[in-house]
Order: sequence, then structure tokens, then C-alpha cells
Amino acid sequence: MKIGIGCDHAGVELKIELISVLREMGLDCIDYGTDGPKSVDYPDFGEKVSSAVSSGGLDRGVLICGTGIGMSIVANKFSGIRASLCNDLFGAKMSRMHNDANILVLGGRVIGKDLAKEIVRVWFSTPFEAGRHTNRLDKIRLIEERQKSAGHGTGTSQAR
Ligand code: RB5
Repeated sequence: MKIGIGCDHAGVELKIELISVLREMGLDCIDYGTDGPKSVDYPDFGEKVSSAVSSGGLDRGVLICGTGIGMSIVANKFSGIRASLCNDLFGAKMSRMHNDANILVLGGRVIGKDLAKEIVRVWFSTPFEAGRHTNRLDKIRLIEERQKSAGHGTGTSQAR
């Protein structure tokens, strides 16, 4: 599985820890920055990862900012993206089982690194349950289609 990880200055330390976990899990992990403490704008890094997942160039993504809220807002602007802000294990598990989330968002100033590592392990090892949830995701796709038709869309996507 090819994944991208990105963050702003509030997520750099956590990102470094998580890249090790992701690589230990055998995932092909591309680092999209940022790389240092200098203040940057989270939309710039959220866009890089989200657009790559939306276009099918990446299978999944991980985004980190201070709260996780800004990155969530950015990621969910992209067609086919189901970004889940998970700062607890239950949410991480359910976002995969029920929502087939394809971008995991974490709040670098909200959770500790050990919990974040466990969330990553759970999120990447939990499959989508499909069944009744497939119909619900189809409805989300239809909402995106209607938004695009109305001129409010964000373009095409290969993300499933
Ligand atoms: C940066 O100070 C902070 O606003 C950002 O990391 C994030 O929390 C935004 O949602």
C-alpha cells in the first residue's frame, strides 16, 4: 500500500514518529513535509496529500496539524476523500469499518505519541466492513456528483 504523510509545524515531531511505525508495518510511505518548526500553512501540505489520494496516485494518507481540524477541513474538500479526525482508538477503528476512511487525521497538540502510534496501527489494519455501509458511501458519492453538477465540485477522483 502506497501512502503519503504530511503535516504543518505543529505535527512535525509526531510525523517523524509515525513514519517509523508506518514503515515497520511494511507500508510504502512518502513524506510530503513540512520538515521543521518554521510556521507554515496547513492547507498547503493537506492539499499535496489529499490531491494525490483523490487522483489515485496514493492509496491512503495521514495528515497532522495542531488540532487535526484544519487538515480535516482541507482533506474533505477533495473528491472521493473520506478524511477522519481520530484522536481515540474507537473512532479510528470505526472510521475504517463503517466509513472506509482513506485519510487519517491526527491532532499533534491533542494526543500523545504512544496513543497516536496505536491509532495508526489500528487504522491501517482494520478493513472496511462493506455491507450496509457501502450504500451509505454510494450516497456520499452521489452528493459529490450533485455538488459538481451544481458547479460546487472539486473535480474528478479515482479514490474509492
Ligand atoms: C497552527 O498554529 C494551527 O492552527 C494548526 O496546526 C491547526 O491546528 C489548524 O487547524
